[in-house]
Amino acid sequence: MMFFTLLFEVIWILAADGGQHHWTYEGPHGQHHWPASYPECGSHAQSPVNIQTDSVTFDPELPAVQPRGYDQPGTEPWHLHNNGHTVQLSLPPSLYLEGLPRKYVAAQLHLHWGQKGSPGGSEHQINSEATAAELHIVHYDLESYGTLSEAAQRPQGLAVLGILIEVGETKNPAYEHILSHLHKIRYKGQNTSVPPFAVGGLLPPLRAQFFRYNGSLTTPPCYQSVLWTVFSRRAQISTGQLERLQETLFSSETDPSELLVQNYRAPQPLNQRPVFASFIQAESLYTTGEMLSLGVGILVGCLCLLLAVYFIARKIRKKMLGNQKSVVFTSTQATEA
Ligand SMILES: *[C@@H]1O[C@H](CO)[C@@H](O)[C@H](O)[C@H]1NC(C)=O
Ligand SMILES: *[C@@H]1O[C@H](CO)[C@@H](O)[C@H](O)[C@H]1NC(C)=O
Repeated sequence: MMFFTLLFEVIWILAADGGQHHWTYEGPHGQHHWPASYPECGSHAQSPVNIQTDSVTFDPELPAVQPRGYDQPGTEPWHLHNNGHTVQLSLPPSLYLEGLPRKYVAAQLHLHWGQKGSPGGSEHQINSEATAAELHIVHYDLESYGTLSEAAQRPQGLAVLGILIEVGETKNPAYEHILSHLHKIRYKGQNTSVPPFAVGGLLPPLRAQFFRYNGSLTTPPCYQSVLWTVFSRRAQISTGQLERLQETLFSSETDPSELLVQNYRAPQPLNQRPVFASFIQAESLYTTGEMLSLGVGILVGCLCLLLAVYFIARKIRKKMLGNQKSVVFTSTQATEA
């Protein structure tokens, strides 16, 4: 009993203390130093990860994630907040997920991105490929834990949807519901209210194709409480939209030289954690070597067929010529006779 009281005390002190540490992505408080102040950031089941599609486990039993209420946003305005690390939009619990082991209600969404002119910006990678940005829609198990902060510290207390974002040809109107308000919250700590909108528009096409694994928050305190769903397909925004994300916000309350950029964590070791896929990758059916031998096989097959056709044609022609000769011969004989 005494031991548990003590343990609780220590955890409580650590948690309280942890909340006060300043952290950044680069520099003396950067991601490599997070574990010093936030021990869980150095633990064994961290996020994000690099998903290698030839090492994932196809799980035909994995039900599709069903976002509910995503397209009925209601009428109450939502809050958009610059917290110095990202832009965060508060979401009501009328948005929730089905298709997971428990019901998870929405709490907030936020973005991670890179810097103008340099590649990368997403946190998760697929086959070592990062995209320009990533959207996280954070949900929690309200029924079991009551509050977001309680759920965030419990195994599978959270369920996050990860959406990789790349640059496409056209402006994405759904993302505009967030990006068009950024200029009102340029400095850290600023808030604005935005009209509610259909969050489903932020998701990529083909939502039935996703990866699932157990991981963590990608920012301190890095609690390992997240059941991750990372969609295989990407959402697209325009170059102009990406640049607004990269160039509008500051990570400081007062200093306009501190642009809020490069707010993504590097991939963390999987450490034998399984990553499940809801689908079979077309690319993983054949490796490059297999494709090459298949191509050579088809080519050789075609050549053989061509040769066969050529010889048959020649034989037929010879036969026909032979017949003609004999006809000519017979007719000559006939005139002589
Ligand atoms: C800004 O929004 C955040 C997140 O919704 C909230 O926690 C905070 O209290 C708000 N701050 C102000 C000044 O309204
Ligand atoms: C996550 O961890 C829990 C508890 O260990 C386990 O039951 C579940 O199967 C794991 N899920 C995935 C997707 O690995």
